[in-house]
Amino acid sequence: MASKLKYITSKLRKTRLVMRNRVLARHVPATLPFTAGGLASALAREGIVYVKPDRGSLGIGVMKVERIEAGYRLQSGVSTAIFRTLQSLRQALRRRIGTEPYLIQKGIRVLRYEGRPFDFRVMIQKNPAGRWVCTGIAARVAHPGKAVTNGSQGGTIFSPAALLQPIAGCARTDRLLKRMKRLAALTAAAFGRSYPAMHELGLDIAVDRRLKPWILEVNTRPDPCPFTKLDDPAIIKRMVEYGQAYGRKYCLNCTKARKAPQ
Ligand SMILES: Nc1ncnc2c1ncn2[C@@H]1O[C@H](COP(=O)(O)OP(=O)(O)OP(=O)(O)O)[C@@H](O)[C@H]1O
Ligand SMILES: [Mg+2]
Repeated sequence: MASKLKYITSKLRKTRLVMRNRVLARHVPATLPFTAGGLASALAREGIVYVKPDRGSLGIGVMKVERIEAGYRLQSGVSTAIFRTLQSLRQALRRRIGTEPYLIQKGIRVLRYEGRPFDFRVMIQKNPAGRWVCTGIAARVAHPGKAVTNGSQGGTIFSPAALLQPIAGCARTDRLLKRMKRLAALTAAAFGRSYPAMHELGLDIAVDRRLKPWILEVNTRPDPCPFTKLDDPAIIKRMVEYGQAYGRKYCLNCTKARKAPQ
């Protein structure tokens, strides 16, 4: 049944919606509600997992856990801690999580720039004629020492080609960007069918070392700020125009994310 909802905050709910599409499902890292048993098996299976609030934003509360020889490494913000046993790791996580609903997600071994992880924000909006159009892709490089790329966490915004071409070459970069747009279009079609009142989505897409794109998250109220840091002002201009046409006003006072050095 079609819903009038414009926004969905639960990441689990959004993940389940994406997973209903067979093509998209192959690009979503395994995601499950946080439980002690789920943590143990996900770490045994994946080696790296992300633990994050089901309703979080701005990268707040997002933690990376990695199985290492000495036990487990937990990274939160710029601080890391090592735990020798799963039980001590679990206790530390419990203290941070409290009673909030959290998720466990397979960790993607993402591409890096100067040792810092990076991923992409892909914006897709309905144009004034009501058709979904991908209006921009921005690359976000994590603040040094962090495992999250959010601009609000000190991330730096680059044009996607500037980061991908040195790694993948021109032709593969073009193909990869096309693939990301295709994933965004399929996601928009899926969300649009269930939620016709939605007009915009912002996908967080990470790329692994084999150049496979992974949808980490779908934002139903995407922040246009990363796009104000790109060199081409036409990108943010069109975003604002499309947003205006469906009644969305953006705050473009973007002080946190940094612009790539020239
Ligand atoms: N499974 C994962 N593998 C690799 N990196 C991840 C994974 N999950 C999250 N991250 C990193 O952490 C960042 C924040 O995670 P996520 O986007 O899920 O939550 P959020 O940013 O708090 O939510 P919002 O985008 O709504 O503000 C991602 O942009 C990415 O850099
Ligand atoms: Mg995000």
